[in-house]
Amino acid sequence: KDLNRISITACGTAYYAGLVGKYWFERLARINVEVDVASEYRYREPPLDAGELAIVVSQSGETADTLASLRYAAEGGQHTLAVVNVPTSTIAREAEAVAPTLAGMEIGVASTKAFTCQLAVLLSLAITAGRERGTLGEAEERRLVEALVSVPGLISEALRAEPSIEALGQEIAKAKDVLYLGRGTSYPLALEGALKLKEISYIHAEGYAAGELKHGPIALIDETMPVIVIAPHDAVFEKTVSNMQEVAARGGRILLITDEAGAKAADMETMGTIVMPACDPVVAPLLYSIPIQLLAYHTAGFMGKDVDQPRNLA
Ligand code: M6R
Repeated sequence: KDLNRISITACGTAYYAGLVGKYWFERLARINVEVDVASEYRYREPPLDAGELAIVVSQSGETADTLASLRYAAEGGQHTLAVVNVPTSTIAREAEAVAPTLAGMEIGVASTKAFTCQLAVLLSLAITAGRERGTLGEAEERRLVEALVSVPGLISEALRAEPSIEALGQEIAKAKDVLYLGRGTSYPLALEGALKLKEISYIHAEGYAAGELKHGPIALIDETMPVIVIAPHDAVFEKTVSNMQEVAARGGRILLITDEAGAKAADMETMGTIVMPACDPVVAPLLYSIPIQLLAYHTAGFMGKDVDQPRNLA
């Protein structure tokens, strides 16, 4: 309730969950949030304000850099909260408070259900913080909680798109490079989509904030590189459409992930459009993580890769 600032520290996919969390805490609870890669944070030795909150996010609860960040924050007099999946882990034991993600055991190296559960926990925390700080009213809280509760049903609906995602995976499998674009909370999803694809298919992929396209990556656009655009029909949708037009004008091939309203409004030729059920924009990151995970899964499967044990990863 009385915090001025939160830091969120994590690695890999958990870091991207933290980036989504930043948008939620800032929007719903009006708290400043800094998100850091744990391997940078721990060695940078940032000055800390005692009494503020450090959140670490980790599936395993054993990632060395994340654990070191937790210890650094605790030594600096900060409160520590672990969003963690393994309840017996070192991070869970050492944190002052634990918000368990309850995803069940992650067997595959590529984080999937742990990611969606990290998002669910971070959104719950942001809603609670918003209520405590008076930035969310009771009705707004109810609307957000109902949106969160609707997510499992929406995900079941989203899974109906799997045959078309599988077919698109065959197309993506032919690419050498893939670009992911998104705005708002879809930006960290673009980063996560790119990580998931490179991790299990070994195709080079980059995630970018859609507004950054014109500041460099637009030079890469040609007919050989698929551009995957994550764009629910939300407040920044029109802006993302203008980026898609920039891609299309340069002969780029767009794979659009949106909802029905977005597909209609975009009105653009694409190599494929994956249509998600309509949802409250706040919970879109939970829902839209499903098609990006499935796309990576089917691309890698089509290429004959081991999606559970990718090379070089522990
Ligand atoms: O166990 P952790 O969440 O701390 O692990 C962090 C990263 O190593 C992890 O998220 C990694 O990026 C995944 N393999 C991504 O799928």
